Amino acid sequence: MCGIIGYTGPRQAAPILLDALKKLEYRGYDSAGMAVISHDAIQVRKMRGRLQLLANMTRDGRDLPGTVGIGHTRWATHGEPSYYNSHPHLSNSGRFAVVHNGIIENYRPLKDMLIQKGYTFLSATDTEVISNLMEYCDQGDLARTLMAAVKHLQGSYALGVLSADEPDHIAAVRQDSPLIVGRGEGENFIVSDIPAILNLTRDVCLMKDGEVALLDPKGITFYNEYGEIFEKESFHVDWDVSAAEKGGYEHFMMKEMMEQPTALKETIRPRIKDGRFVLDGLQLDPEWVKSLSMVHIVACGSAYHAGRLGKNLLEGRLGIPVDVDIASEFRYRHPILRPDHLVVIISQSGETADSIAALREAKGKGVKTLAIVNVVGSTIAREADYTLYTWAGPEIAVATTKGYTTQVAALALLTCCLAQERGQMSGEELQQMEALLLSLPDAAEEVLSDHKEVQHLASLFFNHKDIFFIGRGIDYSLSLEGSLKLKEISYIHSEAQPAGELKHGAISLIQPGTLVIALATGKRLRDKTISNIQEVRARGAVVLALCLEHDEEIESVADHVLRVPFLCEELQPILAILPLQLFAYYVAALNGNDVDKPRNLAKSVTVE
Ligand code: BG6
Repeated sequence: MCGIIGYTGPRQAAPILLDALKKLEYRGYDSAGMAVISHDAIQVRKMRGRLQLLANMTRDGRDLPGTVGIGHTRWATHGEPSYYNSHPHLSNSGRFAVVHNGIIENYRPLKDMLIQKGYTFLSATDTEVISNLMEYCDQGDLARTLMAAVKHLQGSYALGVLSADEPDHIAAVRQDSPLIVGRGEGENFIVSDIPAILNLTRDVCLMKDGEVALLDPKGITFYNEYGEIFEKESFHVDWDVSAAEKGGYEHFMMKEMMEQPTALKETIRPRIKDGRFVLDGLQLDPEWVKSLSMVHIVACGSAYHAGRLGKNLLEGRLGIPVDVDIASEFRYRHPILRPDHLVVIISQSGETADSIAALREAKGKGVKTLAIVNVVGSTIAREADYTLYTWAGPEIAVATTKGYTTQVAALALLTCCLAQERGQMSGEELQQMEALLLSLPDAAEEVLSDHKEVQHLASLFFNHKDIFFIGRGIDYSLSLEGSLKLKEISYIHSEAQPAGELKHGAISLIQPGTLVIALATGKRLRDKTISNIQEVRARGAVVLALCLEHDEEIESVADHVLRVPFLCEELQPILAILPLQLFAYYVAALNGNDVDKPRNLAKSVTVE
């Protein structure tokens, strides 16, 4: 996943490109570059490494004069991070420059064809093929040339293209990769993600697959996939600019953790009206809802962990089987899907390739799909039959926090809505759940209000090499997410084990001083978990128990205790994950890690 930006207007482009690329770096940060047109020639500056190096090399863009340009921050897929593999890529004659987010699956045969035509290549990337393809397909009109070139392409792409022959223009197109166009006063923009241009404009258009846009300072011309010009509505984004900046916190992750009460409020409240659960007017056919016989939840990473809690909610209230699958497994295991099944795809970004493929697999089999997504207009949101947005706002830190908690809340809303339609929750039960859901934001606020104990515990354990999480039922699903958070940003080996399963193997890894984080936030299986705590303590483990307020007994079996208030069994994980997110954050910060951009990870993986 990469970040692309483009600017055409009266101002010097390079400083504007650099500033926006800074806000796109979470999308990929192994190399960066810019191309700017000056004196009818395209000047390119690019390099391997963090964006700051490029800013230093161009003296914050001052050494790259020109008012029209494109920029890129990279997450390598084809060709390891290097100068030649970083974007923009120039065509052989230097007349076209291209920045790209996505993967061209047929780039090899195209490259061979172009080499036969006498074109040469400097990089190992798929993208450079597009630059030379522009030259090969040149129609003497930038937009038409781009349309001709993309006809050859297979795969996913969001492209920004410059032509030395049209010095005021930027051409852009998307296919299965996010791209937004921003309308300014006498200047216009292309960008991969809205937050990066919120300080420049609030009027944006979401590009659809196959659409081409031609920008110049005065206006934007849109072409549909048949090359016909059409008018495109823009919409006003009311996110505040600080949403894209750290709001005074040291890291986006801390800002986003502290935003969870608001994100939960935004996600829950609009879906409860007059004592009824309403899901944004999703026109679910009541007969089909009643006939629903099975639900498949499919996702990746933390979204998959949220899905496991969705299984608990849906099975508990609807009494129908729920399968939870990791998308990269689901898409190749030939799942049994029937018309009276529902496939729920969960994805914060809405752009994760394996989840998109799982969605298409289900749609291909004629099964209804519902997406729980955070990014408006993302591929999964647009392609699913129904979409329930988590209104968490932009999430910049790679390790998701508010994305996860709002996904679990959305699953609870979905459960209540389906049970309501199927008459499987009484009025009283619905009211109870409504009250509990509406009380969540304040309860979360309370849990997030005091970090002292978590910070102290992080300072005791930040240099441990192995940390185990154990739990039963919802606490096991929770421990999976707690362990993943720690792994993602602290680089400490950690694993989550069903507490009852430990004695069948992994307990052999427990030795004196090993930290075991035991979760006992669900009342139903708490007693069982206490005996598992005693098992590991008997092998010398140091136990940090996460338990409920007023649970005195647990003090006697654990070395350290963190407490959360009890809400109800089903929604408890939304509160109980908060101290685990904070623990991971402080451990990572104490290890001096780049908490927002952990190594080897990306916010959303748009390649298989
Ligand atoms: C990973 C992110 O790349 O993708 C995780 O680092 C995330 O935080 C996972 O949970 C799935 O992403 P998404 O956007 O599909 O929820």
